[in-house]
Amino acid sequence: MNVLGIESSCDETSVAVIVNDKLTSNLISSQDFHTKYGGVVPELSSRAHLQIVKPLVEDALEQSNIKLNDIDLIAATAGPGLIGALLVGFTFAKGLAFSLNKPFIAVNHIEGHIFSGFLMDEKPVFPFLVLVVSGGHTLLLYVKSFTEIIQLGTTVDDAAGEAFDKVAKMLGFDYPGGPQIQLAAQKGNPAKIKFPVSKLSEEFNFSFSGLKTAVLRYIQKNYGGLNEVPESDKSDIAASFQSAVLKALLQNTEKALNKYETNSISLAGGVAANNELRNSMTTLATKYSKKIVIPELQFCGDNAAMIAFRGKTLFDAGRRDPFSVKPYPSLPKDCFQPS
Ligand code: KG4
Ligand code: ZN
Repeated sequence: MNVLGIESSCDETSVAVIVNDKLTSNLISSQDFHTKYGGVVPELSSRAHLQIVKPLVEDALEQSNIKLNDIDLIAATAGPGLIGALLVGFTFAKGLAFSLNKPFIAVNHIEGHIFSGFLMDEKPVFPFLVLVVSGGHTLLLYVKSFTEIIQLGTTVDDAAGEAFDKVAKMLGFDYPGGPQIQLAAQKGNPAKIKFPVSKLSEEFNFSFSGLKTAVLRYIQKNYGGLNEVPESDKSDIAASFQSAVLKALLQNTEKALNKYETNSISLAGGVAANNELRNSMTTLATKYSKKIVIPELQFCGDNAAMIAFRGKTLFDAGRRDPFSVKPYPSLPKDCFQPS
């Protein structure tokens, strides 16, 4: 069975092909021009998706050595994401499926991230815990099978990646800020500043807004203003901030490990590219003798391989979507609650 996957939820256009269970192409075109605006500009994002999606499909098919007619299933990201951006890839995919008379699957982007560990040679073993940490989401989930996903915790305010991006901005770093904070943190002392790790009444929830404000207050108090932090001090602030984010993420994951019967732990989303997070999650898994699956970098951020894979698992479970299905900007309420 040959699957074509299309992802366009934010600032990456991505097209992937799976030929008989083997990923043969995962092309990702990143819209780097948003950097100069300090964040993703939705209208510009949609236009860039529109220009690149068709040539990217052609390139992915060529790389996979197959023709469009050889595709048996088309899957595309339906949401959550920027609605204008989603509409481009989603509508293009539906149009292809309709004209080729092939089945179509509307994929939940977060479910794509959840199962991204299955794109690796060493795969997660059910039931597993997965932490999805990106610019838009921070979710801790308990996954019993390809069709039973239970949300344990989410953020009550900012997403982890969003916090990285906002603190990076305070330090004068470009968007996206995560990689820059990681780089600066490598030279800093994570124990230098004691930033707060939020404690919430909901056992597995996260909050990063207080931490973000604490960093702002620290900068205002010690340097007078956002553009006044000397280069030499940025590393300690970055390292101390990163350490506080990781503490929150690891603390809740460890609580879940103690409460739920688990075989593996997996990480997903753009923040899963963070080296410190990868290392400390591996240490935690070792402590509890659990298998750890951390996707390689091309599968951490937004990519179509995870969409094609998720589309195929849903197809195998009997799902078929009508062409009337629409994209959605927000995560459907209660979509990961036990049935
Ligand atoms: O999953 P993703 O590519 O897009 C969505 O938000 O869906 O995640 C992007 C986020 C950004 O907030 C970016 O700053 C963060 O992932 N990120 C990182 C690192 N690389 C990317 N955060 C921390 N450390 C990194 N190395
Ligand atoms: Zn994502």
